[in-house]
Amino acid sequence: MSVILVTGTSTGFGKLIVKTLVQKGHQVAATMRDVAGKNADSAKELSQLAGVKVYDLDVSKDDSVQKAVQQCFADFGKIDVLVNNAGVYGGGLTEAYSIAQVQAMFDINVYGVLRMVKAVLPSMRKQKEGLLIHVSSMIGMFPFGGATPYCASKFAVEGISLGLAQELKPTGVESVLVEPGLFPTEIFGKTGINADEADTLASYGGLWEQMQAGTQETLGGLMQKYEPNPQSIANKVAELVDMPKGTRPLQNPVCDISKNVAVESVKAIGEAAGKWYATYFG
Ligand SMILES: NC(=O)c1ccc[n+]([C@@H]2O[C@H](COP(=O)([O-])OP(=O)(O)OC[C@H]3O[C@@H](n4cnc5c(N)ncnc54)[C@H](OP(=O)(O)O)[C@@H]3O)[C@@H](O)[C@H]2O)c1
Repeated sequence: MSVILVTGTSTGFGKLIVKTLVQKGHQVAATMRDVAGKNADSAKELSQLAGVKVYDLDVSKDDSVQKAVQQCFADFGKIDVLVNNAGVYGGGLTEAYSIAQVQAMFDINVYGVLRMVKAVLPSMRKQKEGLLIHVSSMIGMFPFGGATPYCASKFAVEGISLGLAQELKPTGVESVLVEPGLFPTEIFGKTGINADEADTLASYGGLWEQMQAGTQETLGGLMQKYEPNPQSIANKVAELVDMPKGTRPLQNPVCDISKNVAVESVKAIGEAAGKWYATYFG
């Protein structure tokens, strides 16, 4: 039985991850922003589960991260696993994103991940044991035009997790990725952090609108055909938690649409990386 802190548990994968982990007998610190406001119903729902405590945590705010993590240590005495799940999506052509808007996305998807990692690592290193699981994306490996800042943020998460895995090897702490394909969660119904420079977008003469329509048709059709189930992500997280130390793959693509193609593609990237490292380090 592990003590597991999960970020972004108000909706989507995060909520399912919490429910799945407690069913398997783990203790879960379910964190979400705005517990007293828009996420009050989710907070109440999760806090009623045995083994779950809910904490207010906004990953974009240093003090919020510190306060929630300290409270979690006070209540549970330790954190064995961190699941960095919180994230925002957003679309639009890259040139039409203000730098401030890209920074806002990175503040959640990238710096939020780093804030959480920095908050839990000292105790994990002391325990000589710990597991960091980062929810990245298939489009954190294969870019998707029309959501480039989001892709870039997830590419950053890939780099952070893979780099941490190397740095932390001697400490006994592991860092792994879960890379979801497309799943029907609440994320696409939220406002998101989108391109905000309307004049630049308009100067492309309808290209963005065309891309959006094409994407919606294609992805909508795939969703209907394959009916991807977000529970697949919660199951993968639970599987990684329960695997013996030292056996967890660094990258874990989960896609109900591309299935084995996703797995084979990521395996090929891993093999290519192995060759590249070998030329430098033997
Ligand atoms: N669904 C997909 O197809 C898909 C594919 C690949 C990767 N992902 C990734 O999977 C993760 C979960 O997404 P989801 O699909 O389950 O979407 P979701 O239902 O919108 O869940 C995202 C969660 O992150 C939270 N969040 C956003 N900003 C936050 C902040 N500043 N501090 C704390 N929490 C914050 C959201 O809280 P609020 O409710 O308050 O906004 C929500 O709880 C994300 O990292 C996403 O990028 C999703």
